[in-house]
Amino acid sequence: MSTIIYAHRGASKHAPENTMPAFELAYKHGADGIETDVQLTKDNIPVLIHDEQLNRTTNGIGFVKDFTYDELEQLDAGSWKSSHYKNTKIPTLDDLLAWNQDKQLKLNIELKNNIIPYQGLEDIICQKLVEYQMTKQTVISSFNHDCITKIHDRGIDIDYALLTGRRNKALVPYSKKIKAKGIHISYRLLSNRLVTLANDNQLYVAVYTVNSSIAINKAIRLGCHALFTDIPKLAIDIKKRRLAERN
Ligand code: G3P
Ligand code: MG
Repeated sequence: MSTIIYAHRGASKHAPENTMPAFELAYKHGADGIETDVQLTKDNIPVLIHDEQLNRTTNGIGFVKDFTYDELEQLDAGSWKSSHYKNTKIPTLDDLLAWNQDKQLKLNIELKNNIIPYQGLEDIICQKLVEYQMTKQTVISSFNHDCITKIHDRGIDIDYALLTGRRNKALVPYSKKIKAKGIHISYRLLSNRLVTLANDNQLYVAVYTVNSSIAINKAIRLGCHALFTDIPKLAIDIKKRRLAERN
């Protein structure tokens, strides 16, 4: 099994996170997939932005949920990173799915409904993925574990994983109970024991956010199903080198 390399918020070390230039760069650098975060606008448009508030990554102020998409479209989500990216827009989920149509990268859509419980977010996202025929290459994840059970109960044929950064001795039985397909864990929770126990229980393990060679090598060596990195080029190069050494 070869570890899937997801570009975390796109190639976010070198381009503004969760923007089309960051996704383009990830594609250019050979990432297997894109991880992105989704929030809902006032008019229920899924947009790709990590924080509930606009302040850190745009020139706007306030909560995403309090603006319509037409209003958010006016904002600059690139200049905070570098003037080279001036006037880069906050993308919608549609922008990403349309862009991915000729690339067919794997996608990890992280629902950011653990702080603001956006009503109907699960349905909106699933409907989009069905519309763009991208359910097969997508995994939905969330720190809000109720929404994972909710997706499962709808009977939608899509993979979903729980996200956690908390140490929990019962993580594997808990993940089975809430019917997750995989566990997306913070790197500090990664151990051989956990990967083995999860795999023995038909659960995969993916790890975030690994940006050093040591961490990337460890995730691959322990047989993680996937890893999330801000520097996909580094991870892809390591993966290729390891494969070449094996042959
Ligand atoms: O999905 C993995 C990772 O993105 C979770 O944390 O805060 O970077 O969205 P965060
Ligand atoms: Mg995320």
